[in-house]
Amino acid sequence: MAASLPPAYLRPAREEDIPAIARLSHDTLLVGRKADGVFPSEKLWGELFVAPYIRGGLCNWVAVVGEEVAGYILGAASNAQVFRGLVPSLPGILWRFFLGAYGPRLPYVRYVLRLLLFPSPRAPHRLYPAHLHMAVDAKVRGRGIGSRLLQTFLHCLRRHGIRGVQLATTRANAAARRLYRRHGFRLYRRKASPFWAPYLGRPLIHEAWVLDLTGEGWAYGGGPGDPPAPGDRRG
Ligand SMILES: CC(C)(COP(=O)(O)OP(=O)(O)OC[C@H]1O[C@@H](n2cnc3c(N)ncnc32)[C@H](O)[C@@H]1OP(=O)(O)O)[C@@H](O)C(=O)NCCC(=O)NCCS
Repeated sequence: MAASLPPAYLRPAREEDIPAIARLSHDTLLVGRKADGVFPSEKLWGELFVAPYIRGGLCNWVAVVGEEVAGYILGAASNAQVFRGLVPSLPGILWRFFLGAYGPRLPYVRYVLRLLLFPSPRAPHRLYPAHLHMAVDAKVRGRGIGSRLLQTFLHCLRRHGIRGVQLATTRANAAARRLYRRHGFRLYRRKASPFWAPYLGRPLIHEAWVLDLTGEGWAYGGGPGDPPAPGDRRG
């Protein structure tokens, strides 16, 4: 399947990529799977969780296969950067939301409330100020695209003088954990969270992974395993 596809190339993400990135991201929102019941509108998803990175974040890249965006990595040097990217469009989003332009409001309210009630574990922002989100189209996974996106992203952060980066995933996401570990990330903290329980029927172990981008601690390949970490609640 993958062998017959054209090669992928990477380029910086642009405003016009927002719908394609939103589609890839929305397709994987429920622990790597599509789940329209969780957050029905792909458009609202893109306006809230993709556009702010393109407009306020940094080191955003897409992988293009043929003519199509088939993977992305979005980053920001701080949460404040993402918020600044969101603010200008917020009045319009709220207006459309209250007019019902995204469909019934309840699933969104529920989702956002659960985000606030059950935040993912985090590492200290002082040490790991940047964060990232990424996904690759299921049709072209396993061809090294995720690895190239991550490597390019990390080089870009380093060029910007960012000292560390963190990300959130779950213990169930074997492919992502393998990718991050291979690029030198280490598990910083994990905790069981009921965030996905209403949708999956069970709690998941949520994890924060970190990478130090300064000096000797910064290296690709052969990353450490899962050393004990402050606040680590194993199992
Ligand atoms: C994680 C993701 C971005 C990786 O993209 P990709 O293009 O397939 O990445 P690569 O081809 O560079 O490498 C994937 C690695 O995962 C491994 N992998 C793939 N499926 C796996 C699985 N089910 N279990 C364990 N490892 C797996 C591959 O073997 C490869 O590791 P290796 O090179 O050491 O052998 C992709 O799987 C994805 O989009 N997943 C859904 C969205 C997501 O989970 N995003 C991350 C959120 S934290």
